Amino acid sequence: MKNVTIITGACGGLGKAFCREVARQGDDLIITGTNLERTKANAEELMQEFPELNVKFFKLDLSVEQERDDFFKWLENEGEGVHRLINNAGYIAEGGLLEFDDETVKKVIRVNCEGTVDLTQKFIKCYKDNLEILTVSSLGAFYPMPYMSIYSSTKRMLEGLMVALRYEVKDQNIKVSTLCPGGIPTTQAMIDAIKTQGVSGKLSAKTPEYIAKYALKKLKKNKAIIIPGAFNRFLYFTGKLAGETFTAKVVGRRWLKANKKREVK
Ligand SMILES: NC(=O)c1ccc[n+]([C@@H]2O[C@H](COP(=O)([O-])OP(=O)(O)OC[C@H]3O[C@@H](n4cnc5c(N)ncnc54)[C@H](OP(=O)(O)O)[C@@H]3O)[C@@H](O)[C@H]2O)c1
Repeated sequence: MKNVTIITGACGGLGKAFCREVARQGDDLIITGTNLERTKANAEELMQEFPELNVKFFKLDLSVEQERDDFFKWLENEGEGVHRLINNAGYIAEGGLLEFDDETVKKVIRVNCEGTVDLTQKFIKCYKDNLEILTVSSLGAFYPMPYMSIYSSTKRMLEGLMVALRYEVKDQNIKVSTLCPGGIPTTQAMIDAIKTQGVSGKLSAKTPEYIAKYALKKLKKNKAIIIPGAFNRFLYFTGKLAGETFTAKVVGRRWLKANKKREVK
């Protein structure tokens, strides 16, 4: 029997790259997405591209507790061979905290924090040991990001939790890695954001394919924090040295400038 990897948010830009890289490396897949038809179509496409691959799919909105419970009930029959979880799904909300309505703020927290934490806890309780868990956070987890404050703060929570969790489960032979990428040109909004960031946006951005391959290699080595790209590792270290208040000022100014450029266009 082949090993199986669960990938959440498998129909998005990075999710699709993870699906292909995992398939290339020989695992079968269980993929989830918020839209059943789209997730099914993605599974069929993958099985056409990789004839040896078995892909099961499940509709899972991470912000809905009942759907998370249903997923684990379904896994009791359909989840044989599962050894890895890739927490890729994330609700990306660009904007300052005061720009959002209540529902959006709750959704960001529910998907990125509540849903991802619940899924991870249930996954470990269900499959117990010899596991791998990769969680997609962001480079923005390492410093406060004005105008992306709620999103980056949820990613920060995930990063802190996963680093602590890896210690808690170290005796169960569970690898826990957190992926903290810079820009990824997956959606039009992210492509525009990267463009308006100029040279630093270009240097920070990596393709989803590169990131998926790099992250899986580092997960195998049980690396705690995975930051793809030398420039992003440089940003991480300089951010630490400069301190939070100063970094927030620099990031806030850059973001405002970039947003103005976008508005002008
Ligand atoms: N793009 C970047 O620059 C960047 C940088 C750092 C980190 N990240 C992180 O990378 C991951 C992948 O993002 P991406 O760039 O590939 O963007 P994307 O194409 O928009 O993908 C985001 C994925 O999250 C899923 N998702 C959103 N809301 C959900 C919900 N309520 N329940 C379950 N899944 C939900 C979406 O699933 P459906 O398609 O099924 O709705 C989608 O597949 C995210 O965690 C993101 O925060 C992205």
